[in-house]
Amino acid sequence: MPSTVILEKTVYTIDQLGEMPLPQLALAGRSNVGKSSLLNKLTGRKNLAKTSSTPGKTRSLNFYKVTPEEFYLVDLPGYGYARCSKSERDKWAALITRYLQKNPWLVGVVALLDSRLPPQTLDIDLITYIRSQGLEVFPVMTKADKCKQPVRHANQAAWQRLLGLQKPPMLISSHSGMNIDKLWQFFLDKLSAVLSRE
Ligand code: GTP
Ligand code: MG
Repeated sequence: MPSTVILEKTVYTIDQLGEMPLPQLALAGRSNVGKSSLLNKLTGRKNLAKTSSTPGKTRSLNFYKVTPEEFYLVDLPGYGYARCSKSERDKWAALITRYLQKNPWLVGVVALLDSRLPPQTLDIDLITYIRSQGLEVFPVMTKADKCKQPVRHANQAAWQRLLGLQKPPMLISSHSGMNIDKLWQFFLDKLSAVLSRE
């Protein structure tokens, strides 16, 4: 687990997106899927990222700097939040697109998926888009504690088939802590090539 994590930059508009010259792993997923909760659990800090049962809590792109490893975990604003206006949704999409497109520091995108649900169009669209940009997607299924084993198994298998994965996506729970250490190790493994070059 990381020793120190600090929120270094919060970005609301494309203008504020300057270069952040350290390797980055982004956390993406629909609103309420558990992005901020995962960040808190990974870092062992309950209130590092604001969480809420009301979808749409994270409206900005947040750069969390991890030391001593020296990389950023980037919490992206959740998509699919129906209650906000279309212009607001378009603004988010533009910001995320711009962030994903021109970013040589981005190592990959962790796509968080709700383990209780079969593959949803919005999630499939996002993953397809990320892959079309030549970026690697790491699917992770959240809220395992809230879902009975046969259901999450079926949903894992469906995602595995759909994405053509060798193994089913990892199941995690930010509430029970299930597989959180394993996920952290997975992140470090993915980052190791770029980190050791520094
Ligand atoms: P936005 O900021 O709106 O994009 O949402 P988010 O993806 O950051 O979700 P957030 O972490 O705020 O979590 C949303 C709700 O789900 C909160 O009520 C959390 O307590 C709950 N939640 C998150 N992870 C888990 C989990 O592993 N298990 C359970 N049971 N609930 C979870
Ligand atoms: Mg959030």
